Amino acid sequence: MGTVIVVTSGKGGTGKTSLTGGVASCLAALGRQVLCIDMDIGLRNLDISLGMTDRALMDFTDVLEGRCSLERAAVEHPVIRNLYLLTAPVSPPPHPLGESSMLDLLRQARERFDYVLIDSPAGLGSGFRLASCGADRAVVVSTNDSSALRDAQRTVTELGRSIDTIHLVMNRIQPKLMRRLRTTIDDAMDAAGLPLLGVVPEDAQVILAANTSQPLILTSRKGAALAYLNIAKRLLGERVPLMKIH
Ligand SMILES: Nc1ncnc2c1ncn2[C@@H]1O[C@H](COP(=O)(O)OP(=O)(O)OP(=O)(O)O)[C@@H](O)[C@H]1O
Ligand SMILES: [Mg+2]
Repeated sequence: MGTVIVVTSGKGGTGKTSLTGGVASCLAALGRQVLCIDMDIGLRNLDISLGMTDRALMDFTDVLEGRCSLERAAVEHPVIRNLYLLTAPVSPPPHPLGESSMLDLLRQARERFDYVLIDSPAGLGSGFRLASCGADRAVVVSTNDSSALRDAQRTVTELGRSIDTIHLVMNRIQPKLMRRLRTTIDDAMDAAGLPLLGVVPEDAQVILAANTSQPLILTSRKGAALAYLNIAKRLLGERVPLMKIH
């Protein structure tokens, strides 16, 4: 039975999509069968960051509404074996989407895949609720600014109603800036009220990789690429020390 992980944040632009694509690529490179589901209706971009824009023709609403099977709609990555994407529609569907069909989709996905990573839209609205309704665990992505941390805390309150295992990933970390702000990762964990799954440094490679549609793991083993790999290993239950960020 696979594990469903929702990647969420509250505040927009904290790095959910980059983290979902980065960690999913690493889990697949480590030999697991992985499905990414982009649930950011109308603002999808996981297909861009994975380099799969021309592949995904059907989207998750086609599966929810019975127009297409999960098998057909989930497309495999051209280079990374075992990595599949189920994309989001470019515009909202005319009817509200039901949580019960989402739970059905995830039941099928758990049988076929070891890990299902869901890229949630920002905010705490209906898209977030649909993305998180059937997840086994959650990863909340935050940057080190107080508004992102406060939104992370609000997200945790919402998620906590149905999900027991919730972890924090601190993204875009710049030690120099943190020293100037006289703050630490421990402070951030306290502010969000969550245990830490990983720390990802500020790394221009993330932006370059997204712009060239190349998952980071294919081109690098340091900086954010190493952080994503460490997070993937921790999800698999390995004890990996926190990387040093300079
Ligand atoms: N560790 C990092 N270092 C540098 N840039 C990063 C890092 N993580 C993400 N970014 C950049 O930050 C921007 C936002 O990232 P991303 O799209 O992953 O966030 P998001 O949380 O999915 O946003 P949204 O809420 O709009 O869906 C992108 O330009 C991305 O390349
Ligand atoms: Mg996103």
